[in-house]
Amino acid sequence: MNTDKLQQTAKALVADGKGILAADESAPTIKKRFDSIQVDSTEDNRRDYREMLFRTPDAGKYVSGVILYDETLRQKAADGTPLVKVIESAGIIPGIKVDMGAKDLVGHPGEKVTEGLDGLRERFAEYAKLGARFAKWRAVYTITDDLPSAACIAVNAHALARYAALSQEAGIVPIVEPEVLMDGSHTVDRCEAVTEAVLNAVYAEIALQGVNLEGSLLKPNMVLSGKDCAEQAGAEEVARRTVRCLKRTVPSAVPGIVFLSGGQSDEQATLHLNAMNKLDELRPWKLSFSYGRALQAAPLKAWSGKAANLKAGQQAFFERAKANGLATTGAYA
Ligand code: 13P
Repeated sequence: MNTDKLQQTAKALVADGKGILAADESAPTIKKRFDSIQVDSTEDNRRDYREMLFRTPDAGKYVSGVILYDETLRQKAADGTPLVKVIESAGIIPGIKVDMGAKDLVGHPGEKVTEGLDGLRERFAEYAKLGARFAKWRAVYTITDDLPSAACIAVNAHALARYAALSQEAGIVPIVEPEVLMDGSHTVDRCEAVTEAVLNAVYAEIALQGVNLEGSLLKPNMVLSGKDCAEQAGAEEVARRTVRCLKRTVPSAVPGIVFLSGGQSDEQATLHLNAMNKLDELRPWKLSFSYGRALQAAPLKAWSGKAANLKAGQQAFFERAKANGLATTGAYA
């Protein structure tokens, strides 16, 4: 295993002032996004939309990497250039989502386990050839009074570590994504406790399976009040609790933590990241972003499926990327 190369890539993904664009929506998810702007989810429309994002002038100033869906990694731009080349020419690192989705966990109603380990070694070998230099696998955890179960936490930790080890074997940096969902009426206290338990389990498995920490990244949720909780923690509290939780659980050898936005508004996701990076305390890792919705909501709406809106879509994307790039150093105002 070439750990030097893995570590270089991991560091480049969290370079100062930069973060990741998650553009790896599966077919059903991108259809949902396109439905919201009344655009059909055809192969060409998906290509046009994503090509618009990747060709945004100067995006590479704030975007270090982009996570692609299988289709996009193989797709060509309208002029025939592979999209991977378009991304590389912008100074951005191509990545790939490799999980096959969260499926019902047998015997545990309301809970999910992420599948996709079978044949993953072979898929990684092909993805490496196609140009992917980092990868993503997402596990999800629902909070209720009784959930997540110990079983859900254990099986997803195991799968995340197995994925991460296979990814590194192929020379690809694994982004480990355990997402504690913000849906529900739980308190911020409960979110912090659950996130701590989940991350402890993930890093125990990662140690057990010998994953190289320096050549990996973590993509967690922030510690937030449940969406339907009457009392909502403010940005300062979210920042303080999130960093406290991560300090208790994430080894300092991990070079960076790139948050998901998870249904926060784009402005909220930026403010929370900024607040964390403004905290006056030492942190061993970079704190950056790997946002999907928080980077794409504005450009998706500005574009609305019309070629005439291409510049407006790129402008909207650039503004979100810049805001979050500034938030990685606490410089967003
Ligand atoms: P959101 O930022 O929309 O949560 O998407 C990030 C992601 O990649 C989820 O897996």
